[in-house]
Amino acid sequence: MVDLSWAIDPIYIATIFFFIIGLQRMSHPLTARSGIVWAGAAMLIATLVTFLTPNLTNFALIAIGIVIGGGFGYIAAKRVAMTDMPQMVAFYNGMGGGAAAGISAVALLGTTTNTTGSLAVIGGLIGAVSFSGSLIAFLKLQGWMRPRPITFNGQQVVNMAVLALAILSGVLVILQPSWVPLTVATYLPLFFILSLGFGFLMTLPIGGADMPVVISMYNAFTGLAVALDGFSFATPNYAMVVAGIIVGAAGSLLTIQMARAMNRSISNVFFGAFGATEEKGMQIQGSMKSIDAEDVAVMLAYANKVIIAPGYGMAVAQAQQKVKELTDLLESRNVQVKFAIHPVAGRMPGHMNVLLAEAGVAYDHLFDRDEVNPEFPSIDVVLVIGANDVVNPAAHRQGSPLFGMPILDVEQAKNVIVLKRGQGKGFAGIENDLFYRDNTRMLYGDAQETVAKLVQALKKL
Ligand code: TAP
Repeated sequence: MVDLSWAIDPIYIATIFFFIIGLQRMSHPLTARSGIVWAGAAMLIATLVTFLTPNLTNFALIAIGIVIGGGFGYIAAKRVAMTDMPQMVAFYNGMGGGAAAGISAVALLGTTTNTTGSLAVIGGLIGAVSFSGSLIAFLKLQGWMRPRPITFNGQQVVNMAVLALAILSGVLVILQPSWVPLTVATYLPLFFILSLGFGFLMTLPIGGADMPVVISMYNAFTGLAVALDGFSFATPNYAMVVAGIIVGAAGSLLTIQMARAMNRSISNVFFGAFGATEEKGMQIQGSMKSIDAEDVAVMLAYANKVIIAPGYGMAVAQAQQKVKELTDLLESRNVQVKFAIHPVAGRMPGHMNVLLAEAGVAYDHLFDRDEVNPEFPSIDVVLVIGANDVVNPAAHRQGSPLFGMPILDVEQAKNVIVLKRGQGKGFAGIENDLFYRDNTRMLYGDAQETVAKLVQALKKL
């Protein structure tokens, strides 16, 4: 057979450029789809070129793995509902972490130096944590496990003890000291069991709604594990190193940005058990005043400027198509309609952007918090569709768990209409005094149904 192994590194380098172009294109909604294609093509080429590796054996097993994994991924991605996207990302990310841990195990079972062995152990630890942690995130988001934080006394001590034991067994795997009676065949499984256990324990006390931040962090972990694995063989695999570093850096930046948008530190997300407690001693004056769809339709029809502030409830109700219909109707009546998008509205980064793009809302209608906040005092009607925490003025109140969170200042508009099913609280579990204000009216019901009623009522005017 012709030896084409000389082509591996140049092709890997080409794929690295593809990854970078893909990532760059993903940074804007208009080019994001093509960014996914670039990165996917890079992944495909990098996988195929690996078959040129000299002395490669187990072709059949590798091919079966690719067919099963690729087939499952294709079918699952085709079928997944938009609301289930966060758990799918968690699942795939976990698989990446598991694959990285598997590569470490293979490296550690072969011949290693102290340096390559250490890199494989660190990669294995991080990959295994990402695997078990992401699976817990998946179970919580899928509703197959209690989403509320699971806490117990001495939790941090137990977690730290498991981590210390995992590190200790990893050190034994590398050094294999003669005075320890057990062989590497014992420490290696122990090392992976403890590492998996640590990922599991670390994720239990984190509430379901914080999972997107956790997934993004584990995504960074997976990237880091893959990059370390790339160095753990006698000949480094540069495609793994660079792709891993890109994923690690992108995941870390995303984690930091999400935490910042919630005004929380990353340690608060991981160790704060957010959502387990409610705000104490808070008394809101007044009552919630309801309104019906016909009256809201009249307000909208005669408004000059309307802002729609969507949140998690719009995703739950799958109301985006109806919202687009409503927008078109209002614009046909010369009402200016803008969308105020909070960076953490919903349950995953870009959740609202993705839903609205799916429904065909033009990207130039979407405005981020800093752009839109100064406009609220001049807005006739704000429609808050299934948003709660991201419009909660408690963020301006000292002592509130939300204090300091940058919010959409919708309460400054002339009229605020809140579409939600009942008196349920948002993810943070905090009362929202926006709902009790004089300029606020509540339009109760599932958001898809209430927006449909608004559309019907507007058509009759
Ligand atoms: P939430 O605060 O979670 O509030 C959603 C509201 O939607 C609820 O009050 C609920 O009230 C209503 N709702 C639920 N189903 C509905 C339906 N079918 N029709 C109409 N309304 C419905 O949402 P938000 O304002 O978007 O805030 C997101 C929260 O998640 C923030 O606290 C944020 O920090 C957190 N978070 C987000 C992310 C990312 S990346 N997006 C990451 C981590 C944490 P009813 O039950 O009364 O209907």
